[in-house]
Amino acid sequence: MSVNYKKDFPFFNKNKNWVYLDSAATCLKPNVVIEAVLDYYTNYSTNPHNFDSKIGYKTNSIIEETRTLTQKLINAKNVKEIIFTPGTTFSINQMALGLVDLLSADDEIVLTYHEHAANILPWYEMVKQKKANIKYLEYKDNEIDINSIENVVNKNTKFVSIAHITNVFGYQNNIKKIVKKIRSISKDIIIGIDAAQSAGHAIIDVQDWDIDFLVFSGHKIYGPTGIGVLWVKENLITKIKPILLGGSMGNNVCVNSLSYEAKNFPHNLEGGTPNVAGIFGLNAALKYMMKIGVENIYKHESEIRNYAIKKFETVLKEKVIIHNKNAHGTTLVFSIKGVNSHDATSHLGHINNIVMRSGEHCAKILKNRIGDEKMIRASFALYSSKEDVDILVDAIKNENDYLGDIF
Ligand code: ALA
Repeated sequence: MSVNYKKDFPFFNKNKNWVYLDSAATCLKPNVVIEAVLDYYTNYSTNPHNFDSKIGYKTNSIIEETRTLTQKLINAKNVKEIIFTPGTTFSINQMALGLVDLLSADDEIVLTYHEHAANILPWYEMVKQKKANIKYLEYKDNEIDINSIENVVNKNTKFVSIAHITNVFGYQNNIKKIVKKIRSISKDIIIGIDAAQSAGHAIIDVQDWDIDFLVFSGHKIYGPTGIGVLWVKENLITKIKPILLGGSMGNNVCVNSLSYEAKNFPHNLEGGTPNVAGIFGLNAALKYMMKIGVENIYKHESEIRNYAIKKFETVLKEKVIIHNKNAHGTTLVFSIKGVNSHDATSHLGHINNIVMRSGEHCAKILKNRIGDEKMIRASFALYSSKEDVDILVDAIKNENDYLGDIF
């Protein structure tokens, strides 16, 4: 009998009849996270530049505690390697645009066709500026094809940036194995991992993986929107030029001059007043999640996903096609035969109160590999239940007209 985590999420008190299956886009927030954000605004509300009061001191200590919790979650060596950003998109932009000077004409950046736009567009901008090139690794049997690596990665490769778990199909890559292969070709390649879809669902170990940077968002691990993480290996961190300049960076600023000093990292990459309420919320989210344990969360989500597959393959056998049955992630991607996926999600969302996502899912170039088929993505989290799946299955089973009035 699985635990019912719905009670921790006030969304369900207000929205008793809703089925939320869009957690890959954003997770619902548990009470402890909402309370932590409220706690900051109600009881502290100070700018962290100010240590000169008990409340300012407390604000700073929560920020630094959150850095330490994040360090633990991903097994970073040094807490100074944890940088708070507005989210995954900002984090990747910071890495690509902040390291643009390491790239020369004809250098290569390696991605995959499965990447989210946030892990494609900043690299496109980088190669445009430097007249460099982008290449793509291939997927085979639900993960990056290790054998394709030596056909793509070579001595000209400067960066490799790939998802740990892809956002559409939920394909999970064996990062350790992939990195080992890449490093056997060239040791100096900067390897980055987009963990937006894996943080909170899978174990992350940046030291064991031997990577250089990793990014994820708070809002996909039960935390607030607008707060995210960039982890950068210590030896690389001082090479990154901040893309945001302002106060709180702790730089050496004189009239007409600015220098970045190693002792000021990670603050050098956190210009401006941080999203303190977001960090308070992220602190609570990390504690909540780590108390339950990432392995247990994944176990629960897999149980729900397997249950959904079983019901789809029996009750909905004639109606749906599953596109990612053997993926390890927590998304179930499917189409309803003869129905446009946007019409289906719109109808199920407005009429049945079942929230899912359809379309490209921001994986902008995936169509170059799989064709233009738009699919429906149901994505699971801690609060997902078998009852949610039953409601979805019944709705699809009983619906034959997805084009009826919804407004
Ligand atoms: N990246 C989010 C998703 O995959 C928005 O839906």
